[in-house]
Amino acid sequence: MTDHSSDPPARPAPSSAPVGQAMWGGRFSGKPAELMQAINVSIGFDRRLAPQDLAGSSAHAAMLQSVGVISSEDAAAIQGGLQQIEAEIAAGTFPFREEFEDIHMNVEARLRELIGPAAGRLHTARSRNDQVALDFRMWVREACERSLGQVQALQLALLAKAEAHADAVMPGFTHLQPAQPVTFGHHLMAYVEMFGRDATRFQDAALRMNESPLGAAALAGSPFPIDRQMTAAALGFARPTANSLDSVADRDFALEALAAATICATHLSRLAEEIVIWMTPQFGFIKLSDAFTTGSSIMPQKKNPDAAELVRAKVGRLLGSFTQLTVVMKGLPLTYSKDMQEDKVPTFEAFDALELSLLAMAGMVGDLEPNREKMAAAAGAGYSTATDLADWLVRELDLPFRDAHHITGAAVKQAEAAGVALGDLPLAKLQGLDNRITAAVYEVLTPQASVASRKSYGGTAPDQVRAQVARWKELLG
Ligand code: ARG
Repeated sequence: MTDHSSDPPARPAPSSAPVGQAMWGGRFSGKPAELMQAINVSIGFDRRLAPQDLAGSSAHAAMLQSVGVISSEDAAAIQGGLQQIEAEIAAGTFPFREEFEDIHMNVEARLRELIGPAAGRLHTARSRNDQVALDFRMWVREACERSLGQVQALQLALLAKAEAHADAVMPGFTHLQPAQPVTFGHHLMAYVEMFGRDATRFQDAALRMNESPLGAAALAGSPFPIDRQMTAAALGFARPTANSLDSVADRDFALEALAAATICATHLSRLAEEIVIWMTPQFGFIKLSDAFTTGSSIMPQKKNPDAAELVRAKVGRLLGSFTQLTVVMKGLPLTYSKDMQEDKVPTFEAFDALELSLLAMAGMVGDLEPNREKMAAAAGAGYSTATDLADWLVRELDLPFRDAHHITGAAVKQAEAAGVALGDLPLAKLQGLDNRITAAVYEVLTPQASVASRKSYGGTAPDQVRAQVARWKELLG
């Protein structure tokens, strides 16, 4: 159906060909089937590359003029036309037309309408292959930079909450079982670290992709005396790519950005899950205002953490996008294949979802209010200071940790049987386990004392938390 080369050569002139085909239809005598158009057309989604396409074309035209490939009159006409197109897009009047397939040919076709035949000179020493590689790379670079800014805004929101609640005790969990008391500030700062690594992943990805593929042309480079350094510099790239085949075939820059985005989304999903858990009446650790919750149409008492739940779910889209593009790229022979047109939708969708998630999460974090009393009460439950008792036995009585662990286990068993907290077990009971235990032990059995004692670097003691907040404030300042 699509093999036009087998069409009889003596068909009517290309004047009957659809407009889009006029761009490349010199050797074609038949029209593409309607279905061919339907599967081929990408303007519906690649119109998002318009700003990058215009910037790339402008830099290319300036370079062609500077090396003497096109006249200054033609270059001026091209630049003027590109500016007008930019204005039309901004005003919403630019005609995005399916018959011109994609954004590149839509821009060129409009340019021809505006400035006449000089438009045809813009495509000298260029192909849609390096053009789309350039546009998409610039889009992904900007998406990484935007994500970086949004991650940092979220980190600032977390920092503010962490500082305000550096000393608020809460249970720290392993296996979602109460483990040892920590502070709410410390818990939030754990996410500041995770998002900090996400930020550097976006930075690294943006840095690694920062080479311009423009000038690779179709795949082999150009016979014209083009200046690739010039276009690279004009478009903010560190340098031109060094292999023309790689330039048009590579999409690993997008894969890397999607991987970074997916990892970031998993961090968002974990925090979202904690917000959901903390908001249940059973936990009651935090309150979210009406801004990020919804009610139920049947149960009047309900306040549901929908925004958190949606952030928790969005990672599915992100991973789906990463998977999609990986599967598109795997096994593709060098260099460009039309398969690669399928790179854009998943990438756009992924970054749209990430952006919404990051903004919503920053909003929720700024909005949430911890219930310090409830968290403190829960921090003392579940024999959470058992390790503190064992550590006291090691420190004060010089017991080997294993023996201290055993004695503490017996104390927990007795407290459980008596239905009391560890700190409410009578001294006589404790002395029954080792008669050298004194009343001083009770000082380490409160959650406050427990967290205050964990002063090791990176530990949960409020002073350590404040020190980390200060370090991050400086880093992000
Ligand atoms: N719309 C195409 C894409 O997104 C542009 C490149 C087309 N190149 C080609 N040789 N057909 O991949």
